[in-house]
Amino acid sequence: MAIAEVPASSKSPRRLYRLVSFSLSLVWTASRSSFVWLVVLQLAGAAVLAGQVLAVQWVLAGILDLGSESASVSALVLAVVALATLTALGAVVGSVQGSLSRFVGESVARSMWHRLLDVSTGVGLKTFESPEFFDRLDRVRTSALTRPFLVTNGVISVIGATAAGIGLAATLVAFHPVLLPLLMISGIPVLFTSRRESRLEFRFSVDQTQPMRQRAYTSLLLTGRDEAKEIRAFGLARTLRARFDHIYGRYLVDLGRHLRRRAMYSVIGQFTAALVLGATLLVLVWLITLGQISIAAAGAALVAVRMLSSQVQALAGGVQTIFESGLFIDDLREFISMNADDPHGNTAAEAREFSRIDVSDASFTYPGRDDPAVDGVSIRIGKGEVVALVGENGSGKTTLAKVVAGLYPVDRGGVFWDGQDVDTLPAGTLRASTAVIFQDFVRYAMSASTNIAFGKPDAAPDIDAVWAAAAASGASGFLSDLPDGLDTPLTRIFEGGRDLSGGQWQRMAIARAFYRDAPLVVLDEPSSALDPRAEYELYSSLRTVLRGRSALVISHRFSTVRNADRIYVLDEGHVTEQGTHDELMRLGGRYAELFRLQASAYLSDDSEEVA
Ligand SMILES: Nc1ncnc2c1ncn2[C@@H]1O[C@H](COP(=O)(O)OP(=O)(O)OP(=O)(O)O)[C@@H](O)[C@H]1O
Ligand SMILES: [Mg+2]
Repeated sequence: MAIAEVPASSKSPRRLYRLVSFSLSLVWTASRSSFVWLVVLQLAGAAVLAGQVLAVQWVLAGILDLGSESASVSALVLAVVALATLTALGAVVGSVQGSLSRFVGESVARSMWHRLLDVSTGVGLKTFESPEFFDRLDRVRTSALTRPFLVTNGVISVIGATAAGIGLAATLVAFHPVLLPLLMISGIPVLFTSRRESRLEFRFSVDQTQPMRQRAYTSLLLTGRDEAKEIRAFGLARTLRARFDHIYGRYLVDLGRHLRRRAMYSVIGQFTAALVLGATLLVLVWLITLGQISIAAAGAALVAVRMLSSQVQALAGGVQTIFESGLFIDDLREFISMNADDPHGNTAAEAREFSRIDVSDASFTYPGRDDPAVDGVSIRIGKGEVVALVGENGSGKTTLAKVVAGLYPVDRGGVFWDGQDVDTLPAGTLRASTAVIFQDFVRYAMSASTNIAFGKPDAAPDIDAVWAAAAASGASGFLSDLPDGLDTPLTRIFEGGRDLSGGQWQRMAIARAFYRDAPLVVLDEPSSALDPRAEYELYSSLRTVLRGRSALVISHRFSTVRNADRIYVLDEGHVTEQGTHDELMRLGGRYAELFRLQASAYLSDDSEEVA
């Protein structure tokens, strides 16, 4: 996978610059003034630190002076008060910074979610067929979203640590110049090893993406409401638990190995830094014995050395965060720069009428498959016609329906509305002109009226139209029995909710499609869960309900497609037969065979004369 590669240019300053400026601009757009305040507070914190060192020297000088004649108690008290005030101020700055930083973090997260959802809803349905897309989506969602803020925090702490470092270094130089270079060297090993750690972290995260998703999926199976019944009925809990434990166990082993490697780098870095720090302290003692600096200055220098080393750590930490985030941010940047490549999607548009739709020599192949699921298919849907697709499982009916609805782009051929290629229609027009009910439609855990009104989300819900659509799909009967009528949530997961039966849900989905009021309605097995009477009513009233609209109907029950204006028989992605029911029966081909097979199942052995 290309994303797992660490770019060769990852060391270049230009890359660092791009990374930092990308992050800063994201944070800047998300919350401008808070960001400025964070920087100001960081600089204030640095100034307070340098002030503290001077105050320490002042206090120490005062104390050491106490026995002498020039001793001034009031000066000492003043110095102590100054030190206390600066310490308190440092604490206040720190805590305000903490709160502000949390707030900025959330603001950035919101704006990142915004972009992420723009992409995940803007890409075509085909993208959702690829596992690579899910891997990246997952990684971006779990770890990359917070990275721009982490980088920004890193930059802010680098700024602060540098400012504090300069302040402290200046005071140290004032005490004795030789102290400075020693301290600077102490930071280098940490900077070096932290780079290595960042690489390890990203590689680990890439390697773990798939197992993490496997684990999340297994835990969903074990805790999901819809899954609960089957897990129990089949006694799957133990098997799935074992699977979950196995995946988790393997993760822990990998994590252990990863952490040990990381710790090794970290220890090397810290250890070297500590050695250099110790050497600095020795130099300090040596300078006192030589009488090069006063005891008060040496005491203050000790404090400064301590502070400076924690600033160097902060600097190294900041730099590490920036580098560590770099690879995640590349991931994020690639994700959010993915084109919203769905030519028909996400734009509100007016529906458009047609007098005929032609699917012409259309082919579509799923990503990762060699053979096309729809192969050179041509079908026609006239205005007001009911056109049916039949064929065995996997023959390509659903895929073709998705091609007609503009959800999958054709690899070859095209879909034409009155001769115009749908790809040249204004954005959103095809979707606005099509209503689809899928085999696996969504059951929204929301109110009954919302479930229907989602058919036309861009307009304010029209309750009369909702009832009309419900009546047309046969849903009005059970809807009026709900405790809160149309306001009843259709789920048991929220209070006051009611769940529906499978067939009732299907009627809700049909109502949603009718409510959309689009000139083309695509119904993918809309009646599979309906009882015979409901199914009969749906189909015998279909033309009335459609009121001149056209329908593309997919069904396995031949009795329901019998009245269609035209029936296409699909086999392995090809149209093998077409015509009306009577024509196809006369042809005596596949359709006639399957029709007789189904009909005979309903009748006794001696009444074979169906058709
Ligand atoms: N998301 C997918 N990725 C890869 N291949 C797919 C995908 N969905 C379907 N297929 C394959 O494409 C072919 C056609 O599938 P399709 O769902 O269109 O069949 P269908 O006629 O609707 O079947 P059914 O009657 O079972 O609903 C099948 O071989 C199927 O395995
Ligand atoms: Mg299907």
